[in-house]
Amino acid sequence: MQYKKPISQNIFTVNNNLLTATTKYSEEVGKTIIRVLDSNKIKCVPKSVVSSPMSITYKYALESYDIKKSQLKSIEESLPMFLNCSSVKFSFIPEETGFAITIPNHNRPVVPLGNLLNTIEYQLIDSDTKFIMGIDSFNKPVILDFNKIPHMIISGTTGSGKSVAINTIVCSILANAVINTVQFVFIDPKQVELTKYSKCTKFLNRPVATSTREAIDALWDMKYEMNRRYGLFAEKGVANLEQYNKILEASNEVLPHIIVVIDELAELINADKNLVQNYLVSLGQKSRASGIHLICATQTPRAEIISGKLKANFTTQIAFQVQNLQESRIALGVSGAEKLIGKGDAMFFDSEQHGFRNFQSAMVTDNEIEKLIDYIENHSIID
Ligand SMILES: Nc1ncnc2c1ncn2[C@@H]1O[C@H](COP(=O)(O)OP(=O)(O)OP(=O)(O)O)[C@@H](O)[C@H]1O
Ligand SMILES: [Mg+2]
Repeated sequence: MQYKKPISQNIFTVNNNLLTATTKYSEEVGKTIIRVLDSNKIKCVPKSVVSSPMSITYKYALESYDIKKSQLKSIEESLPMFLNCSSVKFSFIPEETGFAITIPNHNRPVVPLGNLLNTIEYQLIDSDTKFIMGIDSFNKPVILDFNKIPHMIISGTTGSGKSVAINTIVCSILANAVINTVQFVFIDPKQVELTKYSKCTKFLNRPVATSTREAIDALWDMKYEMNRRYGLFAEKGVANLEQYNKILEASNEVLPHIIVVIDELAELINADKNLVQNYLVSLGQKSRASGIHLICATQTPRAEIISGKLKANFTTQIAFQVQNLQESRIALGVSGAEKLIGKGDAMFFDSEQHGFRNFQSAMVTDNEIEKLIDYIENHSIID
């Protein structure tokens, strides 16, 4: 029997009212913004308003980009006071010679993963390694792909939404994957989040690592596997996993992508800083073409955990709410993550869109995860 992908099996719930729960436009807020812009000597014309469940964005056209940093700072500091909210985000829109002011909605609805799995944007991408992060303030799904962003670091203070995001990533891959194309290595020294995937044996490369010893062994094995794969590629005269699998498509010897998930990185670094950093940097530098990808989550985006070398090789950095500006700079390279409102409010530099993107992380429930794993384990998988 042909294995039907879980995505087609009604496992994930959908909230049909999500997009109607948009943040309401307020004329009062519009006028206040204009007043504050005016008092900061910024001459502009209101253009449009974009509402989403996450935020409301007021767009303005500028006569010129002659705005000083001090003016921006003053607006970002004074607007929350006038608007009675915790923060606002100011961003330039170069293609429209304008800028946008985004006010987050503090009473956001939960964004179910099911809603985003159903989007045309997700379904049109033909890839085994595509995954969903959430929805942005323009109601567009945020979809990434390990073929394009090989490794990522997820930072955020406790309770900000890192583990929820990891579950979303893992489940969106499992929902769409066929066995032999993707495998996971779960490293969970805190033993809270990832042990539930122990039952998902068909997609496990090895048992979930729950001690630092097992975690370090797993990283050693990944480095070994990376080098083994480069040896195989050399024998066939190819440069990467995609080309290798194309040659071996007809046989049963294709190699799966391996996704290594670490929640929490600081636990490992604290266990053996030099060794763990060496493994991660070396995998970060070289494992892309071999189809081995890493996701590291940490509560502590500080230099002793996310070293410069690590950052240089893990080019996709997702930030949830962090404690302060210094942490934001390490987590993202810029300030801003300290102003996120928690519970899945996130931002990252989207290299395809050449700019920072704010999004609400999607959520998958424990019940959905259980159903997904049960479905996978109880259905024979034939490629
Ligand atoms: N995307 C989201 N949508 C709605 N609620 C969320 C979202 N992300 C997180 N939350 C809420 O915040 C809680 C904490 O999230 P999560 O467990 O992911 O935090 P964390 O960053 O992993 O924290 P820790 O570092 O302590 O492990 C969740 O149980 C949920 O109630
Ligand atoms: Mg967590």
